Amino acid sequence: MATHKLLLLPGDGIGPEVMAEVVKLIAWMNAHGMGTFETEDGLVGGACYDAHQVSITDATMDLAMAADAVIFGAVGGPKWDAVPYDARPEAGLLRLRKDMELYANLRPAICYPALVESSSLKREVVEGLDILIIRELTGGVYFGEPKTITDLGNGQKRAVDTQVYDTYEIERIARVAFELARKRRNKVTSMEKRNVMKTGVLWNEVVTQVHQREFKDVQLEHQLADSGGMQLVRWPKQFDVVVTDNLFGDMLSDIAAMLTGSLGMLPSASLGEADPKTKQRKAMYEPVHGSAPDIAGKGMANPIAMLASFGMALRYSFNMGKEADLLEEAIAAALDKGLRTADIKSEGTTVISTAEMGEAVIAEMERLAG
Ligand code: IPM
Ligand code: MG
Repeated sequence: MATHKLLLLPGDGIGPEVMAEVVKLIAWMNAHGMGTFETEDGLVGGACYDAHQVSITDATMDLAMAADAVIFGAVGGPKWDAVPYDARPEAGLLRLRKDMELYANLRPAICYPALVESSSLKREVVEGLDILIIRELTGGVYFGEPKTITDLGNGQKRAVDTQVYDTYEIERIARVAFELARKRRNKVTSMEKRNVMKTGVLWNEVVTQVHQREFKDVQLEHQLADSGGMQLVRWPKQFDVVVTDNLFGDMLSDIAAMLTGSLGMLPSASLGEADPKTKQRKAMYEPVHGSAPDIAGKGMANPIAMLASFGMALRYSFNMGKEADLLEEAIAAALDKGLRTADIKSEGTTVISTAEMGEAVIAEMERLAG
């Protein structure tokens, strides 16, 4: 059996708490002959800043480049509000995405049956929901230059961020969306603001061309991103795959997260280009939620997004779809038993800790695996 090399980057806040549950899961899988995982740990974000005055070191970047997959917790917190901009915790995450060229961010929003009541939306709106947001992750306003604040000398300052997209960046993310749609319900909705932004005009044009050239069998629809956000909460089941740029994807995926009951439920995968020889993609897996400093250290955090992110690693990096299915079934089964972390509690359910939830999921895996 091939050995899978993982780099674990727990980060800050609840990151280490939820990562601890992945570590237990990995140990359980190793012990049960489900893959051979080797792990290394690294510092990222504020934790790295405290030790090295940078948000990620070159040595950790080298480990990330060499790993088969990076498993990432969360970064940031008020403790680091005053650190220099280039060393802020989020810079470590952005460097990983950029240097590893992880341009395709997959954020599936699935509403587990047991959590229908946890969503702020009505049952009929979210019941059975299964959509996939594909966010462009290495371009757009996150990385565009210039990115500056200039003192205008008259008591005023001017801040500039640059939204920039080249054709190839839109083509490759569109292909990811169309290819994944073919394995699902065969529909892609592309979201931009072509009524206001030149990048939106080009985005729309390129997605349409890629569709015409390579994916005519897939249904393509365009929505303006603001109206798309509204449609996401009005009737989310109209969507299958949503493809959008870096900033809109950031916002729309947080919105989609709440459809599933809690931000604590949403996993993500960030993938690079497939190596022509090995077919392997550089990859990082992280929960969509942040470091939640308000609940950090209390054992209250929901580890499901983190565990499900590891599940995405099984599926997308290690071709272990069966094991990924097993993990998802185990999560659903733990929820069916009425077990909840505080963020997803509802009447008649039992509130448990981060560790208890991790252990409950593993116990269900044990039971389901027979
Ligand atoms: C996310 C986060 C990050 C982002 C932050 C932590 C930099 O919100 O992954 O959605 O904005 O991309
Ligand atoms: Mg975000």
